[in-house]
Amino acid sequence: MTDSPPAGSPPTDAPSPEAAQAGRPYAPGLEGVIAGETSLSFVDGANGRLLYRGYRIGDLVEQGTYPAVANLLWSGDWDPGHRLATAPVPPGVLQILRALPTSTKPMDALRTAVSAWGANQDLPWPATAGQARALTAFSPSALAAFSRLRAGDEPIDPDPSLDLVEGFLYQLTGTKPDAATARALDAYFIVGAEHGFNASTFTARVITSTRSDIASAVGGAIGTMKGPLHGGAPSEVVDQLSQVGSADRAEAWVREALAKGERLMGFGHRVYRAYDPRAAALRTVAEGMTNKPEWLQLAIEVEDVALRVLAEKHPDRPLKTNVEFYAAPVLMGVGLTPDLFPATFSLARHAGWTAHVLEQAGDNRLIRPDVNYIGPAERDLPR
Ligand code: ACO
Repeated sequence: MTDSPPAGSPPTDAPSPEAAQAGRPYAPGLEGVIAGETSLSFVDGANGRLLYRGYRIGDLVEQGTYPAVANLLWSGDWDPGHRLATAPVPPGVLQILRALPTSTKPMDALRTAVSAWGANQDLPWPATAGQARALTAFSPSALAAFSRLRAGDEPIDPDPSLDLVEGFLYQLTGTKPDAATARALDAYFIVGAEHGFNASTFTARVITSTRSDIASAVGGAIGTMKGPLHGGAPSEVVDQLSQVGSADRAEAWVREALAKGERLMGFGHRVYRAYDPRAAALRTVAEGMTNKPEWLQLAIEVEDVALRVLAEKHPDRPLKTNVEFYAAPVLMGVGLTPDLFPATFSLARHAGWTAHVLEQAGDNRLIRPDVNYIGPAERDLPR
């Protein structure tokens, strides 16, 4: 705290706040502001490219698994055989999840679980890769446990023989998923793992920069992702696909929606001007499934029509498929209900959040930007 001037102080000769702040650049929403450096991912919107530590997202989806990608982000090493199973929910955390109302939103339950997990751990500064692994392995079990508890079912213990995404589906449903289902959700986890300085990742870095712990950073990131501007889009794609209903209605539906001035969910992107590489990777996985869930089949057929009609209506503006278009049918296709979509996205983003926590802690400077004061000029208190 700085000392206050004595009461009744005379006016200063300082310039007005406006003059004192003149010429300082301001970008609402920090758009275009470089707020840090990272070696974790490169989001290249103009060229439709996403690299994790230099590796193309499509290659990582084709040849990797979520644990291998998480390990790549944490350590910088590519080990395609790297394994990570889900971890048990500590009894104290389970007790808290049992006490939540069944109406609790899954994102609130996950944020609460991460906070309670942190309260049960010793998490000294600086965060370690061991802490990142432990938290990333804990959260899928916690979300699965909450999802079962609210339905009146008992949580299921992790099966250490299953990799993280398979284990999550097993603990959620009580059934071990078939290979194609696990692979589709694993691909979704890989494409959702990391995406530069998005709002939740930036939150995690700000919290870490105060030398706070990894559970606080990830808890704050979950709170940020809960906002519909960040984690909410895939369920709208589901709504539109269900309105289309069947592939033969796609063309008429798309033309009618555009004629009414509606936007097609899952198309266009603020950063990507080319085809979103995450959508391309998910589509490839979807097409490779022998038994495509009907949601995926419908999405593939609707996409072709939508791209053709959008190109016809907006010949000068590239409007291509974005990641949400394929995220939605993949999540529906593996049996998740739409209210679990944002929390499942959060599970996937744990790898990126925690890798950013490690990167921030490794070369830390308190993140403390400046603000333009736009209130009243200096004045005397009324007598
Ligand atoms: N369907 C139909 N028309 C579209 C779409 C769309 N999905 N997206 C843009 N357009 C049209 C606009 O109507 C506008 O047309 P006009 O110039 O005739 O008025 C033109 O393209 C430019 O639109 P902007 O809003 O300026 O484009 P911007 O790049 O700012 O928007 C956004 C990006 C918000 C994602 C937009 O494309 C959109 O609303 N898409 C649908 C929602 C969606 O899929 N969201 C998920 C994004 S991915 C993510 O967040 C991870």
